[in-house]
Amino acid sequence: MSKLLVANWKMNPTSENEAIRLAKAIDKEGIAIAPPFIFLPALKKVLKNASLGAQDAFWEEKGAFTGEVSPPMLKKLGVEYVIIGHSERRALGETDAIINKKVLAALKAGLKLILCVGEDLKIRRRGLKAVKNFIKNQLQKDLPAKIFKKNLGGLIVAYEPIWAIGAGKADTPEDAKEIINFIKKILHSNFYFLNSKVLYGGSVNAQNAAGFLKVADGLLVGGASLRVKEFLSILRSSA
Ligand code: PGA
Repeated sequence: MSKLLVANWKMNPTSENEAIRLAKAIDKEGIAIAPPFIFLPALKKVLKNASLGAQDAFWEEKGAFTGEVSPPMLKKLGVEYVIIGHSERRALGETDAIINKKVLAALKAGLKLILCVGEDLKIRRRGLKAVKNFIKNQLQKDLPAKIFKKNLGGLIVAYEPIWAIGAGKADTPEDAKEIINFIKKILHSNFYFLNSKVLYGGSVNAQNAAGFLKVADGLLVGGASLRVKEFLSILRSSA
């Protein structure tokens, strides 16, 4: 199975010119770039190999929702992937109930979903069993019952331990493997997703990428995706 590398630029860079420069430099097959919304149209014009991703989407299609962007709007722009439930959004108040609605709307619009799950340090300190319980609960709350009955493809889950995000300190591939396999088991047995992909995210860099790629179907990369040389080196370890 080919690996997927998702570049989550978060609220970076600060200009369209810089976004275009960065995007052109990492425009390779197997990569999805998730820039801030406002750079999506410009990137659509310049990308030849990489796919486009969005960092979020609302659950309604249109209407009086100030500041929101809908999944069909993204789809029309040529966006292929959408990240839902990133821990930075959860920290700003996004609940499992909100994520559940967003997941359904994104899939309904035909976007490939990247659902982020992951535990905080307090839970991790209690051990991997506690982590599994927490993530099982998150999946049950975040994935709407309606989608299980349909054979919707394109489900991607990113396992991102919150304590490893932007921390410069990643999980170990051994522990990540245990959680990733657990997520696959749950998706298969509880939700009947046969072809789900599970990515790892959290302080991925050029040094640790190869280890995580042995245990995950791809990577969700934040900070290192803004550093061209490093990101291309991560890409080489996924080949
Ligand atoms: P990081 O971010 O690679 O900077 O830790 C990952 C993410 O938030 O998706």
